[in-house]
Amino acid sequence: MSAIDEVKSRVDIVDLIGESVSLQKAGRNFRALCPFHQEKTPSFHVSPDRQTWHCFGACGTGGDIFSFIMTQQDIEFGEALRQLADRGGVTLPDRRDPKETDRDERLLQANEAAAAYYHNALLHSEDGAGARDYLVERGLDGATIEAFQLGMSPDTWESLRTHLTERGFTPDELLAAGLLVESERGGYDRFRGRLMFPIRDQRGRVVGFGARAMAVDGEETTGAPGAKYINTPQTSLFDKSGILYALDRAKDAIRREKSVIVVEGYMDVIAAHQHGITNVIASMGTALTERQIKELERFRSKILLAMDADSAGIEATLRALQEAGNAGAMRAGPAVVHPAELGDEEFSSRAIEWTRDALKRASVNFFVIPLLGKDPDEMIRADRAAWDNAVASAKPFTDHIFDTVAGRKDLTQPRERSELMAELIPVVRLIEEPIFRAHYEQRLARLAQIDEDVLRGELRKPLARPSRRGQAAPSQAPPARREPAEEFLLALLLRHPDLRPEAKSIAQEVFLLSEHRAIFHAWLDTSDVESVREALPEDLAPHLERVLGRELPVLEGANLRDAFEDCVRRIEWRKLSAAKHASTAALTEPTAQPFMSAAVEEAITLQANKPADKDRPPASDAKTLELATSLIEDQEMGRRLHETAAGASASQQTDPSQEKQGE
Ligand code: GTP
Ligand code: MN
Repeated sequence: MSAIDEVKSRVDIVDLIGESVSLQKAGRNFRALCPFHQEKTPSFHVSPDRQTWHCFGACGTGGDIFSFIMTQQDIEFGEALRQLADRGGVTLPDRRDPKETDRDERLLQANEAAAAYYHNALLHSEDGAGARDYLVERGLDGATIEAFQLGMSPDTWESLRTHLTERGFTPDELLAAGLLVESERGGYDRFRGRLMFPIRDQRGRVVGFGARAMAVDGEETTGAPGAKYINTPQTSLFDKSGILYALDRAKDAIRREKSVIVVEGYMDVIAAHQHGITNVIASMGTALTERQIKELERFRSKILLAMDADSAGIEATLRALQEAGNAGAMRAGPAVVHPAELGDEEFSSRAIEWTRDALKRASVNFFVIPLLGKDPDEMIRADRAAWDNAVASAKPFTDHIFDTVAGRKDLTQPRERSELMAELIPVVRLIEEPIFRAHYEQRLARLAQIDEDVLRGELRKPLARPSRRGQAAPSQAPPARREPAEEFLLALLLRHPDLRPEAKSIAQEVFLLSEHRAIFHAWLDTSDVESVREALPEDLAPHLERVLGRELPVLEGANLRDAFEDCVRRIEWRKLSAAKHASTAALTEPTAQPFMSAAVEEAITLQANKPADKDRPPASDAKTLELATSLIEDQEMGRRLHETAAGASASQQTDPSQEKQGE
């Protein structure tokens, strides 16, 4: 039986199509609204007996499982065959040079043997004790260590080499697999004294390794030799820019749940899977590459990025849009500047290229999960509900860019509003789908406080060549925003842990600045200054110090509580009045959408209930409410639009014009 026939016999057409189209039984056959054209009465038929489909309506197309996938995803036959073979568990014969195939087969075997060796060393060797303790401390259980086949490379120069050559592998093969480093004596072990993460391709074959420097938690890798992580170098099997860590373990869940969560690190993936969140994969620290994106889009699932803005490609996107304007393919430049990467050339020299097409797709298909400065790993282990909330409140990529840019501007200043326009117009230009486009045009017009027609005029204008200053500007960090009232409140809390009971009732979302939210969160968890300092990621340290450095009046008892309440009220008021000035920073930055409306509502109620308080800012007028409401609606609308689009493309019940954006 040919591979094609074998795939046909293993993949049932009703199951396949039924996954994305809601089929109704009609006699021996099934019927549905045609996923490939718009119609009101179902003319799309699937025959289980013949294993075929046909549309008797406008498009008049039909075929078998392959042609369905090809039409649905607009892909070549070869690609459809590969996907369906994967699904049916059929191994396709390799049409490449048999010599090359044999060689790759040997390298795979060498990797497989190395993974087993490292795994065994972790579990059973004396040297493995430190690594075992470390993994336990990081919360991993035995089953997880087993499932991911984690390992440990002994801190010696030749133990792997000896072990594998004894098993018949030649030093040449081990060099070609990247397991050895070339030397006069024929190569020494590349990975020494590190935690080993076998990296598998989508089919589950070990193609390379990630290797983490062993360090006692807390002291991190300072003092440890080399970079925090090293990888297998580029080999005929391993190309880091095309691999997604744990895709082999996640793919079923990704199909089932119609969503995939992309995190940065191995440990993030592993923690997620251990906690039953199995649609999680990692980009392995670099910004997502075009190839990785393509790989993911194949699943036609919602793509949720749970990574810091830079790695997600957001900063890169903004820079690229600003630098390259709006024409042709653009180079997004080295998108990740990882402090940990210094010394690892392969990693730090990697630059990503997002083409305009990738950006277009991202603007429709991607969502961003707010992380509040924490690793997914930490979040999932510390507070599962907080993680689930974050996932539920993921924002569409475009909204995230809007919010990021708007959050850096003081929109009461005309000059900053015009900067906002300049930065977001290229983003809006990327959006082709008319309904999305109209939505974001409207949103930008509101933020910039200009007439929509004027904005449309701007959008039609030819692109200005970036000026010298314009080129230099994007690389400069935006000036840090200050929120004195928030700093005051945090300073108060840090100095008076006894405010805890009162403070518990304020939501994190009260804070405009995410730095402050993170500090507040850490304080809620621990409350003494030292532990807060420890709990915070390093880049928040300066913020914490600034807060701690604030002078405070001596406050006690009732005075203290008054100061606290007053401060909270001021902050809440500030949020409301920011809305009045259409400063989205106030309204859009709160990470969880549901909280946002709640926060504004609260502020409004608060305001309405105490109109006579002379220390409080003047009463809100109808216009404020109207504006606040419309800004919130804009955001909700954005989410709904994307939800619908994601749902539709996942279930293929969309009209072909919407499909076009996915190209
Ligand atoms: P832990 O610190 O143990 O929690 O690991 P992590 O996986 O969370 O690491 P981190 O968040 O620092 O980095 C995320 C991912 O980026 C890692 O899993 C690696 O894939 C990659 N990465 C980080 N630093 C380096 C480096 O120095 N070199 C290379 N090649 N990759 C790195
Ligand atoms: Mn981590």
